[in-house]
Amino acid sequence: MWLLRFFSSSIGKKILMAASGLLLVLFLVVHAAGNAAIYFGSKAFQAYADALHGLPVVVFLFGSGLLVIFLVHIVIGMQLFLENRKIGASRYAVTTKVCDNTFASSTMPYSGLLILLFVIIHVFGFGFTPSDVKVSVLINDLLGNFFYGLFYLFSFCVLAVHLSHGFWSMLQTFGFNHPRYNEGVGIAAYVVAGFFLLFFGSIVLYFMTGMGASY
Ligand code: HEM
Repeated sequence: MWLLRFFSSSIGKKILMAASGLLLVLFLVVHAAGNAAIYFGSKAFQAYADALHGLPVVVFLFGSGLLVIFLVHIVIGMQLFLENRKIGASRYAVTTKVCDNTFASSTMPYSGLLILLFVIIHVFGFGFTPSDVKVSVLINDLLGNFFYGLFYLFSFCVLAVHLSHGFWSMLQTFGFNHPRYNEGVGIAAYVVAGFFLLFFGSIVLYFMTGMGASY
């Protein structure tokens, strides 16, 4: 089938990476908006969590879709990385050459795997809570723990590094690769990466420092 052949080609894989990456960033936007309820107090945050749990079908469909997108992003990303290593200077590597952010671009598979580790630990910590455990209390217990909080902060730094190249690469794939746009595209990638680092990091610091203890 031509569609399968297209998505097995180098350009098809790049488009799949960019599209799945964009959807994952959109998930982060939605997740950040939901977590913003924390700053309105524990009652507001608990109400948000209860509202989610009151929609099991929507949560199941959303979670399943997210899992598929994650898997596509990880499997294709690994394929491209291995192909790239085998070929040496492939077409995929050409894009990274015009990018001066070499640390982020050369560590993409490693930062990606660290993010995967974070997501697994995070989902086991928060995602499968028994109905008698209040998420608004759990978050204070978990993030109030210094080492747990530190692991979260480290993971958000890794996420920011990954996004600083990934967002740039996604925009390039979607056609923003004219010299006229290059500077703006680079700035946009740093702004997006910095926003998530500051937003999610501030929540961790809120609980780590004890400020959120009686929120
Ligand atoms: C301090 C920052 C964060 C907080 C406080 C937070 C909090 C939460 C909570 C409370 C849940 C469970 C929702 C529920 O069922 O009640 C959850 C789920 C989840 N989180 Fe986070 N999260 C944070 C950052 C992140 C980041 C950076 C990622 C991805 C890199 C992420 C990925 C997920 C995923 C995949 C789920 C399961 C799917 C879902 O329920 O939407 N989270 N998070």
